[in-house]
Amino acid sequence: MSAASGRPKQARTAGEAEGTPVSTATLHRIDVEYEQPDEATSGSVCSTKHAWARVPPEPTQAERAALKDKIRRLLKEKNAVMVSHYYVHPDLQDLAEETGGLVSDSLEMARFGRDHAAQTLVVSGVRFMGETAKILSPKKTVLMPDLDATCSLDLGCPIDEFSAFCDQHPDRTVVVYANTSAAVKARADWLVTSSCALDIVSALKAEGQKILWAPDRHLGAYIQRETGADMVFWNGACIVHDEFKAVELELLKQDHPAAKVLVHPESPADVVALADAVGSTSAILKAAREMDATEFIVATDNGMMHKLRTLNPGKTFYEAPTAGNSATCKSCAHCPWMAMNGLADVARVLETGANAIQVDPALIPRARQPIDRMLAFTAALRNGQPTAALVPHLGAA
Ligand code: 13P
Ligand code: SF4
Repeated sequence: MSAASGRPKQARTAGEAEGTPVSTATLHRIDVEYEQPDEATSGSVCSTKHAWARVPPEPTQAERAALKDKIRRLLKEKNAVMVSHYYVHPDLQDLAEETGGLVSDSLEMARFGRDHAAQTLVVSGVRFMGETAKILSPKKTVLMPDLDATCSLDLGCPIDEFSAFCDQHPDRTVVVYANTSAAVKARADWLVTSSCALDIVSALKAEGQKILWAPDRHLGAYIQRETGADMVFWNGACIVHDEFKAVELELLKQDHPAAKVLVHPESPADVVALADAVGSTSAILKAAREMDATEFIVATDNGMMHKLRTLNPGKTFYEAPTAGNSATCKSCAHCPWMAMNGLADVARVLETGANAIQVDPALIPRARQPIDRMLAFTAALRNGQPTAALVPHLGAA
């Protein structure tokens, strides 16, 4: 089931924003207002403070088993593979792994989709993940359970305003987060995800480059604090991570004094300041496995809890508090758009070929450049090769 939901009611330019704790920042902000579900749309809705989405109903055990069997069969018949993000339903994570696919962070999803021999990729996540897969493999069919699964960072960074912002800063290297449209990627010099942003911006800074960063202001501010790079910022935010609260986190830490705090850098600076480890979804998983602790407080989407708990059976994980940890779930730490992905839609799109991602072919070669740069840089880094040669002075986009 799929329905338009969680879409912005309007997006308006708010100009320069004040009060963000980044000294060198020029902030450009797009405010997005989301429609809220009315009475008629109640039912299977994932509703947070800022956005909502119509989500698939939980299948019964019998339905779940039948859908999984059907998907296993269709994956073979259609030469297809599942690529799932850590935030989607546990069924979609487990089935991806069980059938030879992948559950991972957005960087590894991109790499896996590009390198896998299957001609059809079923990407469970949000739209930018499917688009990145398509840009990297235009000849492959990329299916998504629900094409309305979007992201507040993508919505808050429309290409025309972003392009105008870039035009104001022709001397800066344009670095954009993966959570953006194909058109925004096509305007960028570098793509980054949260797992490689620090390394890439450090390398750019070492080459004397000044950065234009978009769209996540918290991740950008974190990178700026860590690297000292000269950066100007777009003022976007993740509606999930933006809701984590430092005061309540301090209180939870008092209840669990031995717990280590793991934080995704899309969270506000005062939450990041309380972290024992800061990083992407994969980095959070690694920290939980390697840190010498048995209790953890986790500030990221709670879809992450599935992998954290299954891979660490002897350890205890608590969700970091949001503004509205109450029965109303107005700010539960779950992305409404990630929640749109379900088993029934995976089976449906595999069977029918519906929900194929399309990216304007004219955009693909240019949008691919910053993604290729990121993948080459991270592959070199992993292999212990020098990355400086991968950082030419690119100038304006
Ligand atoms: P990762 O790259 O860490 O998986 O994050 C993607 C995302 O959307 C986080 O909200
Ligand atoms: Fe976007 Fe936040 Fe959802 Fe990730 S969790 S897809 S950043 S809205």
